Amino acid sequence: MTAAGLTIRRCRPDECGAVLALWTRAGAIPSPTDTPEALARLVRSEHGDGFLVALRDGSVVGTVIGGFDGWRGNIYRLAVAPEVRRQGIARALVREAEGLLWAKGARRMSALVERGEAHAVAFWDGAPGYRRDERMVRYVKALGPETA
Ligand SMILES: CC(C)(COP(=O)(O)OP(=O)(O)OC[C@H]1O[C@@H](n2cnc3c(N)ncnc32)[C@H](O)[C@@H]1OP(=O)(O)O)[C@@H](O)C(=O)NCCC(=O)NCCS
Repeated sequence: MTAAGLTIRRCRPDECGAVLALWTRAGAIPSPTDTPEALARLVRSEHGDGFLVALRDGSVVGTVIGGFDGWRGNIYRLAVAPEVRRQGIARALVREAEGLLWAKGARRMSALVERGEAHAVAFWDGAPGYRRDERMVRYVKALGPETA
């Protein structure tokens, strides 16, 4: 199947609740920044144009956050509702995000993918032009007032 009847566009402030609900339903790995406040700040920020939703029949069925920090294009929060998977929606979201990031100057893309997430690994293994980089290890830290 193809991603027919799909609209992909920038997320609107009033859609942040639906996005959080989708991430829960999609089984996206929870993150400390999965809050209405954090999403509302992103939507309204200068980076909000990279926060995309896929809509079908007016409902949010997919998301991606494409970020450009001046060096690399990064993909975050790629998620598609369980009932509409394998219809090319994630691929369409990534393509749209790549177009936006290219226009901002990104020339290399990267996506961090949880090894144990079979769907995600299968998606990225088949994503056109992407290859695994086994050399990398990810380090994370949550900032608090005493460290920021
Ligand atoms: C990973 C995810 C975003 C894929 O969304 P999707 O819309 O179903 O993906 P697409 O339909 O665009 O898939 C494109 C291709 O990726 C591969 N693929 C995607 N899901 C797959 C799966 N479960 N098993 C095997 N291959 C898969 C296939 O090659 C597929 O093409 P095909 O259907 O013609 O065979 C979705 O499964 C999801 O939301 N998972 C939970 C959250 C998550 O893990 N997000 C990724 C974080 S990086």
